[in-house]
Amino acid sequence: MRFLLTILVVIIFNILNVQSQIQYVNFQPFTNSKCTGTSQGIGYSIQLDTCTTYDKNNTYIFTSSTNQVKWAQYSVSNVVDPVCSGSAKTTQTVSIGKCIQNTNIAFDDSSFPVYKYYYKVSVSNQPLVNSNSYIKSFMYNVGSCNENEVTNLQYFSNATKAVENSTQKPSSYYCSGSNEPYTYYCSIWGCGPTYTAANCQQINSTSPTLINNNNYYSVFCN
Ligand SMILES: *[C@@H]1O[C@H](CO)[C@@H](O)[C@H](O)[C@H]1NC(C)=O
Ligand SMILES: *[C@@H]1O[C@H](CO)[C@@H](O)[C@H](O)[C@H]1NC(C)=O
Ligand SMILES: *[C@@H]1O[C@H](CO)[C@@H](O)[C@H](O)[C@H]1NC(C)=O
Ligand SMILES: *[C@@H]1O[C@H](CO)[C@@H](O)[C@H](O)[C@H]1NC(C)=O
Repeated sequence: MRFLLTILVVIIFNILNVQSQIQYVNFQPFTNSKCTGTSQGIGYSIQLDTCTTYDKNNTYIFTSSTNQVKWAQYSVSNVVDPVCSGSAKTTQTVSIGKCIQNTNIAFDDSSFPVYKYYYKVSVSNQPLVNSNSYIKSFMYNVGSCNENEVTNLQYFSNATKAVENSTQKPSSYYCSGSNEPYTYYCSIWGCGPTYTAANCQQINSTSPTLINNNNYYSVFCN
């Protein structure tokens, strides 16, 4: 009896432990429909059960159930905190472990993929990031700047092109030979690189996304 009780306690403890573990859903980009070979393109890694955003226009919340990840997208405008309530603009369900193609898989309006990548969907305890990538990382709802408390991140393989969804204005994401992140885009002033490295820092009104005392971001090449 005592033995059984011990086992029961161990099982309950494990269940609690698993539930309190932070998990991420990963969308790893590929250019072929089998998701094989070198991963290339724009990838995402996002904390489950947390309202997140990459731009000021859309928030997302991802949840997982057996073998599936479901998400809901909400329209917002210049909010101070990410809010995921009310009626969702879109919802979608994908299978974990599958290689999927979907034009709706683009979570950042400021850097929309120009190609329809295939994504390998996985769930992990740490964000999944390709090496040799340009990385934009966000840390929401944390009390201090801590790279280990990533809420959501986005990564681009070298020389990946993207467009701003609303204007279709293109830009490309690079890591220099010395691993400095830069974007390359053209304006009426001409075309050129802009170096964009940012150590973990608080988001403010000139930053790419939300304005909140508890929001941080960083930009780097790994
Ligand atoms: C967000 O929406 C506004 C209004 O439609 C638009 O001007 C802005 O460019 C959008 N932001 C991004 C990052 O696409
Ligand atoms: C991108 O822009 C189109 C056209 O404005 C819009 O319908 C779509 O919802 C946008 N995508 C996202 C993810 O916001
Ligand atoms: C990325 O591509 C650019 C242009 O092709 C190249 O100059 C640079 O060395 C590449 N960066 C890395 C880290 O390989
Ligand atoms: C906002 O952040 C940028 C980039 O980190 C920094 O250069 C700027 O001084 C900040 N502005 C304010 C008002 O804090």
